[in-house]
Amino acid sequence: MKDAQPKAIYLKDYEAPKFTVLHTALTFLIEEEATEVHSLLSIQGEAAGELKLNGQALELVSVELDGGALSEGSDFSVDDDFLVIHQIPAHCKVAIKTRIKPQENTALEGLYKSAGMYCTQCEAEGFRRITYFLDRPDVMSIYDVTIIADKSKYPVLLSNGNLVESKELEGGKHLAHWHDPHKKPCYLFALVAGDLRHIEDRFTTMSGTDVTLRIYVEPQNIDKCDFAMDALKRSMKWDEERYGREYDLDIFNIVAVDDFNMGAMENKSLNIFNSSCVLANSATATDNAYSRIEAIVAHEYFHNWSGNRVTCRDWFQLSLKEGFTVFRDSQFSSDMSSPVVKRIDDVNLLRTAQFAEDAGPMAHPIRPASFIEISNFYTLTIYEKGAEVVRMIHNLLGEDKFREGSDLYFQRHDGQAVTTEEFVKAMEDASGIDLTQFRNWYHQAGTPELSVTDQFDETTGDYKLFIKQTCRPTPESDKKEPFHIPMALGLLDEEGNDAQITLKSDGKFNQKTQVLSITEPEQEFIFSGFSAKPTPSLLRDFSAPVKLHYPYTREQLLFLLAHDSDGFNRWDAGQTLATDIVLELSEQVQAGEPLEVDDRLIETFEKLLKEDSSDKAMLCKMLSLPSLAFLIEQSVPANVHAIYTARTFVRQTLANQLHEAFLSCYQQNHDDEPYNYSAEGTGKRSLKSLCLHYLLESDQGDYSQLAISQYQNSDNLTDQHAALSALANSRFQVQAKACLDEFYEKWQHEPLVVNLWLSMLAGSDRIDGVEGVEELIAHPAFDIKNPNKVRSVIGVFAGQNLRHFHTQTGAGYEWLADKIILLDRLNPQIAARLVGPLTKWQRIVGEGGQKMRNTLARIESTENLSKDVYEVVSKSLV
Ligand code: ARG
Ligand code: ZN
Repeated sequence: MKDAQPKAIYLKDYEAPKFTVLHTALTFLIEEEATEVHSLLSIQGEAAGELKLNGQALELVSVELDGGALSEGSDFSVDDDFLVIHQIPAHCKVAIKTRIKPQENTALEGLYKSAGMYCTQCEAEGFRRITYFLDRPDVMSIYDVTIIADKSKYPVLLSNGNLVESKELEGGKHLAHWHDPHKKPCYLFALVAGDLRHIEDRFTTMSGTDVTLRIYVEPQNIDKCDFAMDALKRSMKWDEERYGREYDLDIFNIVAVDDFNMGAMENKSLNIFNSSCVLANSATATDNAYSRIEAIVAHEYFHNWSGNRVTCRDWFQLSLKEGFTVFRDSQFSSDMSSPVVKRIDDVNLLRTAQFAEDAGPMAHPIRPASFIEISNFYTLTIYEKGAEVVRMIHNLLGEDKFREGSDLYFQRHDGQAVTTEEFVKAMEDASGIDLTQFRNWYHQAGTPELSVTDQFDETTGDYKLFIKQTCRPTPESDKKEPFHIPMALGLLDEEGNDAQITLKSDGKFNQKTQVLSITEPEQEFIFSGFSAKPTPSLLRDFSAPVKLHYPYTREQLLFLLAHDSDGFNRWDAGQTLATDIVLELSEQVQAGEPLEVDDRLIETFEKLLKEDSSDKAMLCKMLSLPSLAFLIEQSVPANVHAIYTARTFVRQTLANQLHEAFLSCYQQNHDDEPYNYSAEGTGKRSLKSLCLHYLLESDQGDYSQLAISQYQNSDNLTDQHAALSALANSRFQVQAKACLDEFYEKWQHEPLVVNLWLSMLAGSDRIDGVEGVEELIAHPAFDIKNPNKVRSVIGVFAGQNLRHFHTQTGAGYEWLADKIILLDRLNPQIAARLVGPLTKWQRIVGEGGQKMRNTLARIESTENLSKDVYEVVSKSLV
């Protein structure tokens, strides 16, 4: 991007629209060579004036105002981004005809073709690639949509709302007319035309309305819809019970498509899903896929209220709907399985990836103040940190007041497009709790850090905590106002029991877990009534998205791991201990010293393995070492190879010293019961697979046969995948290759299984570096136009296979840059996401980091970069 550099837009420049669209009538004439879109807009404004409509990559056919044709130049002008009608009356009808070519649309925004079917993705700004429109969420309209297409090729024609007419036309065509009674912003518009099959079910809402539920898929996938349907019904019920939210139409449709940039989309009554987030049966989906499907089905359904009925005023408010909805889906998932395990998974993602984003060049507040390309802001910060912020409000208010706040928010703002301020205000008004300082979470980026020290006075029995909060500078601001941080605290006595917590100044607390409000840069709390120094259990259940520093000794961590009544902190004590051990070893790797693993870690693992734990999923978490990505984040600037070597050494030591215990744990959790997706089954399988991975790393025996037989004899993909990936990462490469080849042979016609196969190979520790991953790109199973395949190969290699991506020659970086440049021509959103791994250059020590930076500079100097890639690259180079 040398000349005209894309410009940022700012929240402070927001202006209410001068015109709105009361009614939108769209007709789609779908033909193989092009699709014509006729749009009739009923426009209303306060006064006559200029009408400026967004439009991109459109061929304009004609424009009419109140039935009279307009001429280019005298009446309107058109360029790459806008159609401007110079003067329209306050009330009028504008008719516009455009022509588009969905079959050539590789960006997958607007109307495009995926595997023979037409589908749409309009959030955030895809509608402007369909027709000229006021493409902004605060313009809400009632839609009538007519679709005309060949009946044999596209027997199913869908849009939002209710089907009001359908008929046959001459020439083998047919027509469907859909009417959506709810006004909505255009980003929630959807259309589907294809040769699809569906399954159908019903749901009766709490007030007795009968809703028809359908899931539409390509014919070969009709046997993979039942789980999503069940998840949908459970979501509908849960939202009624937990939030009092009822569905508001007679029909709810889900459509699965193979080519999709993200996970799924909450279009009103016509959710469109990436097929990976909806299709499942035991042979083609792993336990992970099942839980992801359940969460995403729920997420999109919950958007019907948090997103659709109450929507965003502008895209700076994205977290209004996404943060709240992720919070809602995490509550749902937690109710469906194990709350502690769900919390661990969420926090792992947050601390590994969101904290990195918040510490990097693209850091932004959950309500950003500016952006160049909004697609780049569908981030972990907006989604996951946004959900953590809502979670803190939930914990500050308590369940009942939070529910009152949520009810008030929906009641006040139903049918409106609002800002995060309205959400906070409703919570405040319903609870009477002052959230003034809490609002800093919305406009300040960066992860706050809490440094905690303590002191015990034997003579008085007083225990003091000193808490200091800081936050590093981020691009939007160097100076941070203190955050309001709820810190849940437990104090363990010498036996490991929770002591009653009594604040010296305020005797009434007397709790086992006390939430302290941290609001000052420095604060001191005094607790009374101790006969010996207690062990603090800080930030229980991860009560705030912050980094915590307390000088725990390894003995204290072991004590917490054994005794803390808070499940999350028990796990976290183990993670902190393991992190400390691995990072110390990585120093020794760099110093060329001999390595030895602290016996206490090995003893802890042994004890855990021998414990007859009923919570297998939790045990699996306890026995999992922190990931390489997490460890890199804890050690900035990081030496990837030293950390990798240290972590591998710890794994191998555990595997060698405890192989018998791993084997017996494996055997106890391995049975021949038929597969069934359940919390219990998932827990058992995850523990068993962890044991298998350790066993294959042990050089105290050859356990390859165990993996091969699990692969051959199991009736489900979860176990097969676990066995294959253990083999793929092991020294048994001959056996691994035989099994992986056979697996591909068998499943080559199932795209989702092929993607899993690709990701196992791209993520393997044993891959032949850049040459190895390039072989995958050349494989017939790969398709650069399909985002799922790009994520499975390029995304996994650069984002997860850190040892090989960070190969010292810098070949991994150059390879990634080539792929980004190639992809930017086809699909800018996906290309921009792949820049992510390179933006972390400041966190990688020495020459490696410098090489990453040089690679970014090479991308930046490429001609005609998209806005998407330009924004990420240029901000990362500052
Ligand atoms: N609103 C969708 C969801 O989170 C995300 C869709 C965004 N799509 C995009 N191409 N930016 O449920
Ligand atoms: Zn969402």
